[in-house]
Amino acid sequence: MADFRSDTVTQPCDRMRTAMAEAEVGDDVLDGDPTVQRLERAAAEWLGMPRALFVPSGTMANQVALGAWTRPGDEIVVQRWAHITTYESGAAGYLHGLQSITIGGRGGDMDPEAVREAIRPIYEHCPRTALVCLEQTHNVAGGRVLARATFEAVAAAAREGGVPVHVDGARLANAVAATGVPAADWAAHADSVSICLSKGLGAPVGSLVAGNEEFHARAVLVRKRLGGWMRQAGHLAAAGLVALERNVERLAEDHALARSVAERLGAIDGLAADPVLVDTNIVMVHVVHEDLDAAAFCTRLAEHGVRVLPFGPRVVRFVTHLDLGPEDVDDLERAARTVLG
Ligand SMILES: Cc1ncc(COP(=O)(O)O)c(C=O)c1O
Repeated sequence: MADFRSDTVTQPCDRMRTAMAEAEVGDDVLDGDPTVQRLERAAAEWLGMPRALFVPSGTMANQVALGAWTRPGDEIVVQRWAHITTYESGAAGYLHGLQSITIGGRGGDMDPEAVREAIRPIYEHCPRTALVCLEQTHNVAGGRVLARATFEAVAAAAREGGVPVHVDGARLANAVAATGVPAADWAAHADSVSICLSKGLGAPVGSLVAGNEEFHARAVLVRKRLGGWMRQAGHLAAAGLVALERNVERLAEDHALARSVAERLGAIDGLAADPVLVDTNIVMVHVVHEDLDAAAFCTRLAEHGVRVLPFGPRVVRFVTHLDLGPEDVDDLERAARTVLG
């Protein structure tokens, strides 16, 4: 099966498996794990931030940041379709007692003026605006890269209002590969950044959340409360080191493959996709066929050896990753043409 459901479906490569088997480990809770510490240093350096903290998932990385920056009753300003708002099961409210002001549309946009307006005055009748969150790249928007000028203007609006900025950089590496702007240049506008190693970078598990020393101390405490402190996690961190060292630049290959998915599926009657809207490794394909909706299209593709997920009644999300190549896009096109007759 060619699996286009997500960039999280990748199998660890041989190099990762060897690194995991041979990793030097320790009890990260008691004395520290040397390989986890190496990964944390490497991630902090990549982001140009003083400290990074290893956590099991991207959701936990975001929630650690939210917990570190806020107290119950606070408000966060976040993109309307961000992962934090849409796909973290209400954790901001459930875990930290936060309410959210959401901004922008499905395209992942975030108007700096709207952010400026959303920041509350310091006034006892209002919640405190504790955090502005950005997402780079934006998942629901189809892996779009928020333009550097907008990204910087939103961060500047937050800073003017005295509010820290968290970047959900689960796919920041894709933005780096797509724009050539180094991770540290994006992170320079943020107070904390989360990154995932288990998406396009191909590690089996692991995320990090980075910031300054003070943030780090608070983040360690929140991670503990969330149960995210792991023991001989160096076996996981070893795969993460391979991911960070070897798999960032090659993301450009996934992006080229995604553009070819959009070009080739967009040329089929009954489907619509625009390669111009493909910034990175995610392609939103619209099923415009009269007799087939997104769910039915996915079911039929699966019968022809292609796995993919519906992303709305008429939208299917295709994600490219390091376990897919041009031959899988050939198979996909053939399967789509067969299904659509
Ligand atoms: C933008 C973004 N942030 C965070 C996450 C959460 O990552 P995890 O699935 O590791 O919790 C995802 C997962 O897809 C994501 O797309």
